[in-house]
Amino acid sequence: MSAVKYRLDGNVAVLEIDNPPVNATSISVREGLAEALKEAGADPAVDALVLTGSNGVFLAGADIKEISSGLSNKFPMLRDLQSQMEALPKPIVAAIQGVALGGGFEIALTCHWRVAAKSAQVGLPEVKLGLLPGAGGTQRFTRLAGPEAALDAITSGAQIPATRALELGLIDALADDVVAEAIVFARQAAADQRPLRLASNVTEKITGADPAVFAAFRKKLESKARGQLAPWRIIDCIEAACTRPKDEAFQLERDWYNECRNSAQRKALVHGFFAEREARKIPDLPTDTQPLPVRRAAIIGAGTMGGGIAMNFANAGIPVQLLELTQEALDRGLGLIKRNYAASVTRGSLTQAAMDRALSLVQGVTEYEALAAADIVIEAVFEDMKVKKDVFTRLDAVCAPQAILATNTSSLDIDAIAEITSRPQNVIGTHFFSPANVMKLLENVRSRHSSARTIATAMSLGKQLGKVAVLAGNCDGFIGNRMLQFYSGEAEFLLEEGATPEQIDTVMEGFGFAMGPLAVRDLAGNDVGYLIRKSRRIPDDERFSPILQRVFEAGRLGQKSGRGFYRYEGRTRIPDPEIMTLIEGVSRDLGITRREIPDDEILNRLLHPLVNEGAKIVAEGIAIRASDVDVVYVNGYGFPAYKGGPMFWAQEIGFEKVVETMRKLAPTHGQRWRPAPLLERLASGGQGWSDLKKTA
Ligand code: COA
Repeated sequence: MSAVKYRLDGNVAVLEIDNPPVNATSISVREGLAEALKEAGADPAVDALVLTGSNGVFLAGADIKEISSGLSNKFPMLRDLQSQMEALPKPIVAAIQGVALGGGFEIALTCHWRVAAKSAQVGLPEVKLGLLPGAGGTQRFTRLAGPEAALDAITSGAQIPATRALELGLIDALADDVVAEAIVFARQAAADQRPLRLASNVTEKITGADPAVFAAFRKKLESKARGQLAPWRIIDCIEAACTRPKDEAFQLERDWYNECRNSAQRKALVHGFFAEREARKIPDLPTDTQPLPVRRAAIIGAGTMGGGIAMNFANAGIPVQLLELTQEALDRGLGLIKRNYAASVTRGSLTQAAMDRALSLVQGVTEYEALAAADIVIEAVFEDMKVKKDVFTRLDAVCAPQAILATNTSSLDIDAIAEITSRPQNVIGTHFFSPANVMKLLENVRSRHSSARTIATAMSLGKQLGKVAVLAGNCDGFIGNRMLQFYSGEAEFLLEEGATPEQIDTVMEGFGFAMGPLAVRDLAGNDVGYLIRKSRRIPDDERFSPILQRVFEAGRLGQKSGRGFYRYEGRTRIPDPEIMTLIEGVSRDLGITRREIPDDEILNRLLHPLVNEGAKIVAEGIAIRASDVDVVYVNGYGFPAYKGGPMFWAQEIGFEKVVETMRKLAPTHGQRWRPAPLLERLASGGQGWSDLKKTA
């Protein structure tokens, strides 16, 4: 069976790509297309061609697995097909439904015209995989839509709705019945002998492009794309489209594509792509498990977290109730939500109509009895077991028997919360990250009672809300916060020994973290950090640095009090000699002689604890697989996506080296530096994370 179906509709050949699930341009598709193009070209009864896809999708782009295996370089490559298409003297019309992405959109851009369903989306998302569109995508897009639109779209990888693509000149017509209308379009173009329009020859929008556009865009991207390769190369390509002769610009795009393709960043981001999809798979759930459809939700607690979670549901079009027991607290919470939406409208990232629609889905309530129709209730109240148990007892009494009762706790025992109810099988942790309406991660935490349906519902909720969901087991801190305590704790040991907050943060931000650990502490609040620290259980032979406690006791709560590990003017952090006096005082009290700490020691000292605790989490089955830990860290903790996550990082530098570094540091820095047995096993066996599945 060919991956391309060929049929005739009168004098129009319809080429339908059929490569489930998303019609990636795998080698079978490329071979099928080459064959079908040849046949249509040679058949005198064919006057025009329509290119389309099965499965409700045009083409989702290169087969990402082939990029790693090298098969994507096998003949015919996309550019061979494009040469074949451009040489054909018959009109080719793309009929786009679903998505046309990456190489798929590059093929569409090579057709003479494009007709798209109104619901279709197009785009060049390669940047998200550390790549750039290497089959003329940056060139044809820029020629059709102009450099400004190309810069925005290709450096972000965003999907563009068909209506917008029409305005930009990327497609030529919208259709209800896309294949039928594309056939009519193609037949008419042939009958009219309309001059064939190749995007690669269109010049209106690239002639006389203002060079200042590129300088300004580079400046705009400075902090967002810091440390990355692909976004900068994409700008270079678009600039080349406007300033170099056509053939030279196409060649540069190919060269820079190869540079990106061979980069460690590409490898890390492709790992991330598959890791996110793998995370949805829960091996012990029966395959026929059906999630409970979530049509109505409720949130307990209208604080920053509860309000943010409610916004997620409203944004996804799901009616959501927000409960506070007093009208004042409820009004405050609803006001906060309104202000958040209004700020997005002011920024231009949301329309007034979308804000009104979202707000109409949020209903404030002050009585538990009002929640009887909710399919899922998420508790987001104060982090205190007694308070949580009280909430769950009340929910148990009023909610529908099949409703899922979820807690947003970031560390408390989910089993204990479940056991207070008469339906422990319906209880689960849904740990959102602040700000909940922005952060991508949803860390779902199963209790030992959670039923398959409860777990499946929480996981599918992630997709419904546009989040990346990962399933964790129940333990102190789950996956993310359990690892974080060792990372943040090590930062304070480094301060005791001689580092400064700005040195530590600069090193970690240089590695690619969105924020260094001490800046993060100041953002989250040192009162909150200290309270969580106090509740942690640590082994007798371990200690925490007293720095956090002293910072808290000095009233340096972080950004909110204008002082923490830094002094703040607005949100700008400024090194503060006063904090150094406090830190040096701690060193003195502990009898530590402060020393210069090299930057590479800081990096090692902070990354290894993440890897080590992550390995214990995998060994204990708290995370299903190592790549789930990476998904948590990239999407919830600011770990640079283009470095793949802590577990991927460890594998890339080599487990032997990781273990060796830890063993070297253990005699000076204590038991916490003893390598996890799983790391030692991987190091001695020369294995990778994916081998664990096979040997388990
Ligand atoms: N190559 C190979 N496999 C792909 C793929 C691609 N380009 N795009 C998707 N898949 C696979 C996924 O791995 C997943 O496999 P699984 O079910 O075994 O886990 C399956 O197709 C479905 O993908 P998923 O993302 O879960 O479906 P979705 O409906 O949420 O989204 C897309 C569909 C096409 C929007 C999304 O998959 C996507 O963005 N793909 C990548 C597009 C891209 O980057 N193209 C350029 C490549 S250079």
